[in-house]
Amino acid sequence: MGAAERIHGAADARRLARRRLPWMVFDYIDGAAGQETGARRNRAAIDAATLRPRVLRDVSRRSLAADVFGRPAARPFGIAPMGMCNLAGPGADLMLARLAARHAVPLGVSTVASTPMERLIEVAEGHAWFQLYFSGDGTGTFKLVERARAAGYDTLVLTVDVPEVGRRPRELRHGFTMPFRIGPRQFLDFALHPRWSLASLAAGRPQMANFQMDGFDFDRTESRARADWDTLARLRDAWSGSLVVKGVLDPDDAVRIRDAGADAIQVSSHGARQLDSAPSPFAMLPEIRAAVGPGFPLFFDSGLRSGEDVLKALSAGADFCFFGRILQFAIAAAGEAGLVRLWDVLSDELSIAMAQTGLVDLADRHDP
Ligand code: FNR
Repeated sequence: MGAAERIHGAADARRLARRRLPWMVFDYIDGAAGQETGARRNRAAIDAATLRPRVLRDVSRRSLAADVFGRPAARPFGIAPMGMCNLAGPGADLMLARLAARHAVPLGVSTVASTPMERLIEVAEGHAWFQLYFSGDGTGTFKLVERARAAGYDTLVLTVDVPEVGRRPRELRHGFTMPFRIGPRQFLDFALHPRWSLASLAAGRPQMANFQMDGFDFDRTESRARADWDTLARLRDAWSGSLVVKGVLDPDDAVRIRDAGADAIQVSSHGARQLDSAPSPFAMLPEIRAAVGPGFPLFFDSGLRSGEDVLKALSAGADFCFFGRILQFAIAAAGEAGLVRLWDVLSDELSIAMAQTGLVDLADRHDP
């Protein structure tokens, strides 16, 4: 049996990835901030939520279709923006882009992606959103905005929960830095994971591809701490496409972002990688939904591990969800076949959960 066929759920992908990836890379992807209580608190909240079975409704014809900003998507979930995905395996970014194209779902393209944004939107056949980090005084940031527009992006995701990068002890212990330095410790780690190391060596070290820009020198050490409400207003003025603000956990912030003209908010704790003591994003979802009102687009990520989790988040007030690290684990576990397999598993889990709860269409979910 191939490795892909051994994936029956996200936990299998993670287990296989843990075996294949160097410890440094596994812990970079899997790790969270501080004591990782934020990650556990969010999982506990998702686990405690239930979906009530409903019976004797003809659920033989079910649809997983959704729409985002008026565009049809074949699933109510997409791909969260993640930096340096090619660490999971060479070509990971392109595998994710092909997946986005196949299912017409958004691919989040990180500011610190390992493949240039132009290539990703092309391979994703337009189903790509550019994720932006504001840094320094914004000069480089606005260059990236212009570049995204020129590349054909129509949706920008401003990530606001990284005024400082969270301390993630599992990363720090391995001396993880980008671009990475290979000292004796990392050498041993790579030598003990030859399958990953040989493939990655052949492909060349992953780069932060969006910072390679003719005529402009990015200072990657610039602080992200200077973003404020004025930054959001400037960005709103500069960007006529859809604008998503990602990394919001407070209802008052959410209302202010809505009123500043954002088109959607992504409730997220950055996968628990930022503030260990943050409330569970899943637990905050109903409060934020109540604050912004029923019609305002709310997206959700952080801690989702199954199709049932997606249905829970949709039931708690989200319109659309995003998966993060588990997609990278599927790639590390079994390449593109692993990614496709996990995606199918997640889709199947959602479809079965819909049947059990009497749903044929996700638009009916708030009134099952
Ligand atoms: C991320 N995330 C992230 N978010 C963002 O806006 N820009 C980025 O560059 C990154 N980079 C990144 C790298 C890695 C390795 C991970 C795991 C995550 C956060 C990501 O978009 C999303 O919020 C979380 O991954 C969702 O949580 P789960 O699904 O991973 O639990």
